[in-house]
Amino acid sequence: MSNHSNHSNAISILPRHIAIIMDGNNRYGRANDLGRGEGHVAGKDALDPIVEHCLEVGVEVLSVFAFSSENWQRPAAEVALLMRLLTSTIHEQLPRMNKYRIRLRFIGDRSQLDDDLQQLMLDAEQQTAHFEVMTLVIAISYGGQWDIAHAAQQLAQQVQAGQLTADEISAELLTQHVQLADAPAVDMLIRTGGEYRLSNFLLWQSAYAELFFTPTLWPDFGANELDGMLREFSQRQRRFGKTSEQVAMQTNL
Ligand code: FPP
Repeated sequence: MSNHSNHSNAISILPRHIAIIMDGNNRYGRANDLGRGEGHVAGKDALDPIVEHCLEVGVEVLSVFAFSSENWQRPAAEVALLMRLLTSTIHEQLPRMNKYRIRLRFIGDRSQLDDDLQQLMLDAEQQTAHFEVMTLVIAISYGGQWDIAHAAQQLAQQVQAGQLTADEISAELLTQHVQLADAPAVDMLIRTGGEYRLSNFLLWQSAYAELFFTPTLWPDFGANELDGMLREFSQRQRRFGKTSEQVAMQTNL
């Protein structure tokens, strides 16, 4: 599935799945004397070059945190603005997804969203479901703890229905019921905006992710900086709980 070799500056070990916490929009707006909410608009536009770069280097899945379960607590006007922006993001992304043959998916608790937005999300997913070059996942009304609880609920229902026994519940089984169960685990998690938190994003799926933090505010984050992180990623040794000697034996270094 990868097309790394086409890339002039081939990066030896690529993450299959990158997740991004796009933090710093409001600070960007204030620092640049923009009007209320304009920082988020700049944040919306910052996504395109990142998607294109991921596509170019051969990343399979890019997941971005657009609106968290906790963001509902922001002032009502900001929530309304973010919902409008999400709607326009989907409208703007659809032709791009068709052009680049990228599949668009959403994760999160959709029951909280307006019917119109839910419908738009479904339509966008259906229209792009057959694209296989890359998947762009937009997390809306998403929380990692909600995700795990939701998976636990599904397993509990199976136990209740007599299809499963409690002692059959394992980490592997939960992995099959969290969001994005059919995608590779997150290999690389990036947070912009200078803070060192996971903020409840893809907790289960990022268990072994390499973490990258940058002070750059999301609207200023570009392909160059991502490329530097990809280089660092390819140099980090991922041990998955093993010793470095075991890893060296495995990779025949
Ligand atoms: C964090 O910045 C960002 C958000 C809460 C929303 C991110 C949403 C978008 C960029 C809208 C467009 C959607 C996509 C999919 C690109 P912040 O407001 O917490 O910034 P601060 O830390 O400076 O306050």
